[in-house]
Amino acid sequence: MKTEVYENYIALSEAVSDKIIETVKENPTAVLCLATGKTPVLAYELLVKKAASRKVSFSNCMFIQLDEWIGISPQTEGSCYDTLNRQLFKPLGISATQIILFNALTGNEDEECMKMNEAIKNLDGIDLMLVGVGKNGHIGFNEPGTDFGIGTHVSALQPATIESGLNKFPGVAITGKGFTLGLKNVLDAKLLLVAANGEAKADIIQQGMKGDITTDVPLSVVRRHANAIVMLDEEAASLLQ
Ligand code: F6R
Repeated sequence: MKTEVYENYIALSEAVSDKIIETVKENPTAVLCLATGKTPVLAYELLVKKAASRKVSFSNCMFIQLDEWIGISPQTEGSCYDTLNRQLFKPLGISATQIILFNALTGNEDEECMKMNEAIKNLDGIDLMLVGVGKNGHIGFNEPGTDFGIGTHVSALQPATIESGLNKFPGVAITGKGFTLGLKNVLDAKLLLVAANGEAKADIIQQGMKGDITTDVPLSVVRRHANAIVMLDEEAASLLQ
């Protein structure tokens, strides 16, 4: 694992978008798994522009969904799918056949997790995974306490995560559960990018990077990844020295 610190959010977003573009330029059939959330918003905007200006096509890539709110349809505004669809899939012209989604409305959650693990295996693994970091150290929906060896699973969301869902989906019943790739899938990604910005993330970044490697802080697992890059702006990195 290595850490890269950028002056500010814009520089961080430029670097994140460059790394994704470089990966796809080298490997046009790359399998990508990309987080939603606030952190990557600008990186995705830049990525769409760079894909056009550098003539890098994503039309042969595959996209694996990192996580999704169980019980929320993909069409619901703010679902993980809807977010990526608006920020990336539509602007990049990605077709439905290139995207492997959780069926968040399924009656058989275990089968859905098995199907996702199988799909990843059949695609020969994830070439590039980009994750953000929750203030409690979560990655995807892997909340504190999640075993490092677990693959795709149903996560019982923590109160803070549920609250963010309630804000995101006003008036919609939140099940308190989410589908997520597991920390095993995170460790298996061939290239793992972890991005965080802003002062609010400084404390958890310090715990994850300098504290014990522990399931209490899911972020700390990235230190066990040989090809992980933790990409931070100066504010998120401010407690590392
Ligand atoms: C989103 C996701 C979450 C976020 C994390 C950070 O798909 O998996 O783990 O990456 O909560 O969110 P932001 O970037 O909004 O601070």
